[in-house]
Amino acid sequence: MTNKFKSPLPLPSRRDVLKYAGLAGAASVVGATATPTQAKYRHAHKVLGRSKALLPVADSVTVNAPEVDLSHLPRVTQELVAPPFVPAHDQVASTGPRVVEVRLEIEEKLMVVDEDTGAEVWALTYGGSVPGPMIICHEGDYVEVTLVNPPTSVMEHNVDFHASTGALGGGGLTHVYPGEEVVLRWKATKPGTFVYHCAPGGEMIPYHICHGMNGAVMVLPRDGLKDGEGNPLSYDKVVYIGEQDYYLPMDEDGNFKTYEFAGGDYSDSLAAMRGLVPTHVVFNGAVGALTGEGALKAKVGETVLMVHTQANRDSRPHLIGGHADFLWEGGSFSDAPMTGFETWFIRGGAAGAAMYTFKQPGVYAYVTHNLIEAVLLGATGHFVVEGQWDNDLMAQLKEPGPIST
Ligand code: CU
Repeated sequence: MTNKFKSPLPLPSRRDVLKYAGLAGAASVVGATATPTQAKYRHAHKVLGRSKALLPVADSVTVNAPEVDLSHLPRVTQELVAPPFVPAHDQVASTGPRVVEVRLEIEEKLMVVDEDTGAEVWALTYGGSVPGPMIICHEGDYVEVTLVNPPTSVMEHNVDFHASTGALGGGGLTHVYPGEEVVLRWKATKPGTFVYHCAPGGEMIPYHICHGMNGAVMVLPRDGLKDGEGNPLSYDKVVYIGEQDYYLPMDEDGNFKTYEFAGGDYSDSLAAMRGLVPTHVVFNGAVGALTGEGALKAKVGETVLMVHTQANRDSRPHLIGGHADFLWEGGSFSDAPMTGFETWFIRGGAAGAAMYTFKQPGVYAYVTHNLIEAVLLGATGHFVVEGQWDNDLMAQLKEPGPIST
């Protein structure tokens, strides 16, 4: 399988194949005697290394470009938080453009996907969560990202920001091996919600994305969100829902396989992914992450902006018992929002935003309205909404009981 490797994208490489020898060394720390899976994994890296070395060098595109001096702009550090929460932010910018500094620390970690079946994954994460933390800025701001790949990692990573312009969304300038960090600055020229994801090259691209290595950026218009007539729209809170499709290898008895280190499932996972049939479609990393104690909270009268990301696969969000009052389906805040949707569409590789003001208390299920995926594969979250019931909107006029004659 690995000798069929062909990269669909030009890969940057200011490093040489010797770096990959170091990577293979990092993988070998798990034990002196390689299992067959480990051996396959190392072989995959050798093949990737050879392929990468033959491809164009991205540095060449940045050579001789004039420097840009941003020393006159204020700088702010944004503290990132795990989903479904988002960083503190102003909806309407209170200043002119700023440089927003963020630190994304990569973490390769074993995560439980489904407690009931014991399904687990060596997740590849930004910041330790699936999806990675949301970054929020305003149009015209500069995002300055420090991407850190700690020495404990096994793999090379990078980041492609769909909100940015050039060099594969920054993917071409951010390859970091274990023990390295890189700083990338990009200008937020498009307002909207956008995916970011890892894209190290070739088969590693879907492998990393399908192991949780994706997140979202929200670029707000400087003067805030507007309806179709230019009237301001505001929200009381943002909830950040990251949908993740997993393709977890199973043994002949249908039990989920376990692995001892990140990347150990490499060849098994690629084989599972080729079928395009996910074993799990979940919100925020695991089955039930947004139900029970993790349920989303709101009050009647509150307006919630639901940002839904899917880095790899199409989805159809639906709030059971509610609607999207305003919808930026493709995620572009340059366009007027659509209104009054029952179910909306999130393209694989995109984030979209839906705004809803809750009108009734109770539990709302937030699902992808392929209900097989919602119920059998895990894509269900809950909003628990407090407040006064409105009998004008709905009333049970007779309780279930025997049929009257
Ligand atoms: Cu990665």
